[in-house]
Amino acid sequence: MDVSGKVVFITGGAAGIGLGIASAFAARGAKIMLADINEAQLEKAAAALSATGAEVGTVVCDVADEQAVRDAAAATVERFGKVHIVCNNAGVGAGGRAGESAIEDWRWIVDINVMGVVHGIEVFTPLIKSHGEGGYFVNTASMAGHVASPAMAPYHATKFAVVGYSEALKDDLAQDNIGVSVLCPAWVRTKIYDSRLNSPTVKAANKGEEDSANFSIMKDVVDNGIAPELVGEWTANCVEAERFYIFTHPSMLAYIDARHDQIRADYAACAADERLAAEPEPMPIPT
Ligand SMILES: NC(=O)c1ccc[n+]([C@@H]2O[C@H](COP(=O)([O-])OP(=O)(O)OC[C@H]3O[C@@H](n4cnc5c(N)ncnc54)[C@H](O)[C@@H]3O)[C@@H](O)[C@H]2O)c1
Repeated sequence: MDVSGKVVFITGGAAGIGLGIASAFAARGAKIMLADINEAQLEKAAAALSATGAEVGTVVCDVADEQAVRDAAAATVERFGKVHIVCNNAGVGAGGRAGESAIEDWRWIVDINVMGVVHGIEVFTPLIKSHGEGGYFVNTASMAGHVASPAMAPYHATKFAVVGYSEALKDDLAQDNIGVSVLCPAWVRTKIYDSRLNSPTVKAANKGEEDSANFSIMKDVVDNGIAPELVGEWTANCVEAERFYIFTHPSMLAYIDARHDQIRADYAACAADERLAAEPEPMPIPT
């Protein structure tokens, strides 16, 4: 895919990975619309990108709010005429052990990490189809959408959802000349650990920075992650190559292999059961 001259809408574009993606697309001659809840950070990011000669617009938008995404899409069309590439990237991090996780925190992370992507797909698909030039979605999931670890179930649940959702969209949208990639980084050096400060329970308890310090394990691994600019560059490379999975950490394949080994072992147990094996062949999965 040639991204030069295309209009790219990026949620969570004011910082971190979203800004890294914005810089990479801008360097390839794309026009950029940054959408984010953080207005001050949006303006800083836009100023930095504009200084490189890029054409940049901004819009304040909470991806959890369907109407806000519709308004942001309208603002993008008003500014640039059309949209070709949408990066559903905004996301937050929240953990919690089973039995100790507040339901309102679950709803918060699902609304942003899952419904935020759903809003982006549902709002922008008709707009991309309407101009007939084709388009592309990049949904930001995570390695956390392929392998799970303890005490981070809410985050894993949302990221597995984004991987599965993107896999379903890929063949669905191919018929409309719209490509799909799913971005699956492991640790990237951003401020994602601060996002937990916006969760309902942390806000209500007014724990502020104190809570952030308690989140130190996540902070340590994130602070030692790879640069968001590199993730942005590789993402743009993968969109140009129309590669579906965008992985960024070669050594993490071992974790995916271990998960698949477990699936194969448990599948073998089902295949060895005479009652299950005696059942007729299932209908093929529609493709
Ligand atoms: N940092 C990592 O290690 C890592 C690894 C894998 C995946 N990810 C994913 O990458 C994406 C970007 O995260 P990041 O690490 O750049 O974090 P970040 O916190 O540095 O940047 C996220 C941006 O999204 C914005 N944002 C948060 N909630 C929003 C909302 N409701 N609507 C619109 N904007 C919102 C924030 O203001 C911020 O500018 C997320 O989906 C995250 O889950 C991050």
